[in-house]
Amino acid sequence: MSTETGLAAGAELRGHPIAPGPKGLPLLGNLPQFGKDPLAFFERLRGHGDMVAWRFGPNPSVYVADPRYIGDLLTETERTFDQPALGIAFRTVMGNGVVVARGADWRRKRSLVQPSVRPRQVRSYAATMTDSAVELAGTWSDGERVDVKRAMAALTQRIAVRTIFGVDTPADVDAMGRAMDVAQREIGKEFAGIGALLPDWVPTPGRARIKRAAAVIDAEVARVVARHRDGGEDRPDLLSRLLTAVDETGAHLTDQEIRDETVTLYIGGHETTSSTLIWAWYLLSRNPRVREALAGELDRVLGDREPGFDDYARLAYTQAVVKETLRLYPTIWLVTGVAKAGATIGGVTMPEGTRVWTSQWATHRDPRWFPDPEEFRPERWDAEHGDDIAEYAWFPFGGGPRVCLGTRFAMVEAVLVLAVLARRFALEVDPGVINPVPSLTLQPDREVMATVRAR
Ligand code: HEM
Repeated sequence: MSTETGLAAGAELRGHPIAPGPKGLPLLGNLPQFGKDPLAFFERLRGHGDMVAWRFGPNPSVYVADPRYIGDLLTETERTFDQPALGIAFRTVMGNGVVVARGADWRRKRSLVQPSVRPRQVRSYAATMTDSAVELAGTWSDGERVDVKRAMAALTQRIAVRTIFGVDTPADVDAMGRAMDVAQREIGKEFAGIGALLPDWVPTPGRARIKRAAAVIDAEVARVVARHRDGGEDRPDLLSRLLTAVDETGAHLTDQEIRDETVTLYIGGHETTSSTLIWAWYLLSRNPRVREALAGELDRVLGDREPGFDDYARLAYTQAVVKETLRLYPTIWLVTGVAKAGATIGGVTMPEGTRVWTSQWATHRDPRWFPDPEEFRPERWDAEHGDDIAEYAWFPFGGGPRVCLGTRFAMVEAVLVLAVLARRFALEVDPGVINPVPSLTLQPDREVMATVRAR
């Protein structure tokens, strides 16, 4: 027997609990439904069961909705599940850095990069995060109109360039930022568009633009690395930490590896954090009660001083605002793995080659794990309720061996930026619903304009 979704029903699957998903087309499977609106499609799959068969083009696929199954997928990544290779756009920009690398190469790189983003190191980046937000606050005044997308992108870019590359002059920040922007935009287009389906060797105008942006990035990074090597002093940026990192054989990273890892950290951390902040302002603007509670905590904890790293732990409600934002608008919205021999989910053997999928978007909006899922309610995360949330029902940073390396960095950055700005201002985002567009990250579908209100 073979199911209409094309999942070969072999011996391993007899008696399995995999539910059939929506009907697909002969060759394309469910690809058209997925392509049209992937967020809605995953929510629809969720309605079919906790383990659902579907077809991603020719690939037999299983969607998992139960947090226990999601945990199986995440914790087994790199062991019994491979991540599908990333496309040419990623590889052109990020080289063979930790996001692109697989297997033993990935393990080595992860262990080299990890120490530079440990919570202890994040402490040393906190002042840059706060200072950058204070600089932005200095340019805002009551009644002013701001383009929230642009403001948050510029702020997180400044923080990323300063903390990763240790450069601070406006010209350096601009040059690096511009090259990264082009690269990031083109990766997003390639990821969301037809480029994702084309073989690597097909030249497209987008791929040519990515190549040109990568060349500029190469030159910029080489210039900054040379300056660091010449300077010799102990600097508190990520690049300096990578320059001194050694693997288990005592070898340093090569210049190419340094370039790949710094660019990877930038691309991995910049847009994800800026999107989170944009959605946070949108949600705060639509929920005056939460906005007041946030302002109350900032007044209580900070009074009229700026937040430092030690305030992160004290700003429990601000942290909850960020977590709740990441629940409703998880900037990375999908996870997938390819089953190797012996892969199981919930004790069910996945035939080799099966693509297993889950989605932060659909899981975070499942009423079984989050009652009234559409409501923005940071209180879900307080001491009384937070423990009731099932493990892997909320996974904006992924999980398992490939969990986001920048989790602490991103949380501290989002909390400090919100604390600096929301202590002084409320943003009134213009009326109207803003919908998410699932590109590389979950982006607002239009510009997000707001009026600044001084508190
Ligand atoms: C709110 C902000 C962020 C979100 C939602 C986020 C989310 C994620 C997720 C879901 C993954 C796993 C992807 C997978 O399935 O393989 C990931 C990986 C990664 N993230 Fe983040 N991230 C954020 C910020 C950052 C920041 C600030 C940095 C760097 C400072 C960073 C660096 C990385 C790296 C290097 C990886 C690859 C880890 C590996 O493959 O071993 N991220 N991130």
